[in-house]
Amino acid sequence: MIPQIQNMTSLEKRFDVSIAGEINLDLILYGLAEVIPVEREILATDFRCTLGGSSSIVAHNLASLGVSVGFTTRLGKDEFGRIALERMAESGADLSEVVYAEDSTSTGVTVLLHHGVKRRILTYPGTMSGMSRADLNFDYLASARHFHLSSLFLQKALAPDLPALFRDLKQAGLTISLDTNDDPENEWGGVLNEVLPYVDLLLPNADEVRRIARRDTVEEALLALSSRVPCIAAKCGPAGALLQTGGKLTRIPPIQVTPIDTIGAGDSFDAGFLYGYARGADPLDCATAGNITGALSTLRPGGTEAFRDAAFRDSFLHQHNFPFAIREQDCTIVP
Ligand SMILES: Nc1ncnc2c1ncn2[C@@H]1O[C@H](COP(=O)(O)OP(=O)(O)OP(=O)(O)O)[C@@H](O)[C@H]1O
Ligand SMILES: [Mg+2]
Repeated sequence: MIPQIQNMTSLEKRFDVSIAGEINLDLILYGLAEVIPVEREILATDFRCTLGGSSSIVAHNLASLGVSVGFTTRLGKDEFGRIALERMAESGADLSEVVYAEDSTSTGVTVLLHHGVKRRILTYPGTMSGMSRADLNFDYLASARHFHLSSLFLQKALAPDLPALFRDLKQAGLTISLDTNDDPENEWGGVLNEVLPYVDLLLPNADEVRRIARRDTVEEALLALSSRVPCIAAKCGPAGALLQTGGKLTRIPPIQVTPIDTIGAGDSFDAGFLYGYARGADPLDCATAGNITGALSTLRPGGTEAFRDAAFRDSFLHQHNFPFAIREQDCTIVP
């Protein structure tokens, strides 16, 4: 069993982490050719239906690690929404503030087509882009010590209210983390610049951080952003992660695994990092924990399956000395 988080502050607050964001199912087809002709029946070699959506993967995996999580979202009144919520409930996350769309909009869905290492990601946003501040109970979100937001650019209705929401949560004493994920419009501006001053922890991938900072290299991007965000962990896939804390850049080596599916590895990294962050661990240990949970995710389909299988999850975590994995001696400080 993974040790539970126990300290004074967690006893005073209802949750360790609150998360507001999208939930959907991922329908994953494996073994497809990269070129897909139209008007033909194309056969996949395997299929999985998993809990998807960056926000819900983070919430599910964080709760599976034993962190107390309050998750709020906006669902459609449809079967896919029902199944996604059931999967989420299995993790132990609190779902008491989930709301339903009044109209006939259905819950979002993502179809992933795997072509060997490359993949196509087709998303119908559905109810996820309609979630607004009116759907959120501020006191519920503020009843945690930390607030996390994923998929900034998919939160269309919420975006205009995010700067004020972040400001109010900070005033209520919470720390805030943000994983922008991709900007489908590739603009990387707008509300992002307004929310960054309130962000304590930024969790982009290597490509995203370059786009956010408009720099050619990850290292330049991290340095440029370091004056605006105190802690940034850039996820670098098989290369592990880069951690920028103030002027200090540290490379954190990956866990050696043979991935079968990297969907949701970034969200799983976030969950491991936040596990450490919620218990006040050093950012280096948090990033080390993130590398372990990111690697774990790659060993099963989708972003949550490796965490749903408790025996498999706990055995992998135990093998890698999670959560007490302090690998400072392996980390290289980049001058
Ligand atoms: N091949 C791999 N070997 C070891 N670890 C990996 C591998 N791929 C991913 N990881 C781990 O998962 C983390 C996140 O992966 P990645 O860089 O793909 O994030 P991402 O692009 O944000 O993913 P997502 O598709 O979930 O948004 C990495 O920082 C690393 O810790
Ligand atoms: Mg990501």
